[in-house]
Amino acid sequence: MASRLRWVIVSLLACAVAGWASSEGACAKDRQPESGAPLQTILELETTARLLAVLLDSGRNVINEHQVLFDEQEKIEKDFTPDVFERQLLDVFRSRSGTDLRDLEAARIPAGTKKLLKELALVSKQVVAEAQPEINRRGGGLKEFIPAIFGARVGTRFTERTHVRLKQTALAPRNPLNAPDTVERTALEAFADPSYPREKVISEVTAKSGSLRLMFPLYTTRKCLDCHGDPKGELDRTGYPREGLSLGQNAGAISVVIPIRP
Ligand code: HEC
Repeated sequence: MASRLRWVIVSLLACAVAGWASSEGACAKDRQPESGAPLQTILELETTARLLAVLLDSGRNVINEHQVLFDEQEKIEKDFTPDVFERQLLDVFRSRSGTDLRDLEAARIPAGTKKLLKELALVSKQVVAEAQPEINRRGGGLKEFIPAIFGARVGTRFTERTHVRLKQTALAPRNPLNAPDTVERTALEAFADPSYPREKVISEVTAKSGSLRLMFPLYTTRKCLDCHGDPKGELDRTGYPREGLSLGQNAGAISVVIPIRP
């Protein structure tokens, strides 16, 4: 088992899509694919998995930045329309990944990756469209529509429509449905070490699973701390005990599973 579960640590920067062609050697030398799939396929799947995680996290962050607006008492129409969301999603994603989903033709990424990114952006927008009554609900107060709920709804729908699984997870999850499996736990433990390099994803390919798995670490911004920060143990607005996380600390991960097709 241990030999099958060979972890391949991939430098996010070395494998960034923009520098992909020139740094391929640097990425490839760390790899020991055990799936029998061609190295090129594995590299492409890994790019896909990482970009999907960045896109889901970008959506989570746009929701996070608007949380206070959703909960406002006085303003009933929040003007957080699906189009407003989509614009911000694409801007955040472009600044984080260097990929512009408005101009996918020009992007130097595989066609299959483009298709999945488009689908994820579409699903994200649909989830925001369906949440309009929740977001604009009279009376303000805490809205259910928080980053984790957005992420879970998007993940579920995306998995239904594609072959790719997207999940949010943490070592001590609030929601038991987000509990890590063995592979996810190993990666989360690595991310939790304060000396672990920031934003380094962890991925693996095994013959047994027949899939590429990638773990993308999440870090707290100031707004996450409203719920996940101090004072530790005190209930946040959603009724869960705060975790006492500090700014920039690892807060869990997005887990991506893509089946390998020969
Ligand atoms: C309004 C409060 C609130 C904010 C703000 C918030 N969270 Fe959460 N978070 C929650 C709740 C509640 C859950 C559990 C949701 C559920 O029932 O699935 C959760 C779940 C999660 C999970 C999934 C694992 C688990 O515990 O179930 C991760 C990862 C996470 N949050 C990270 C973050 C990060 C990173 C941010 C900032 C970008 C953030 N959260 C902002 C309240 C919040």
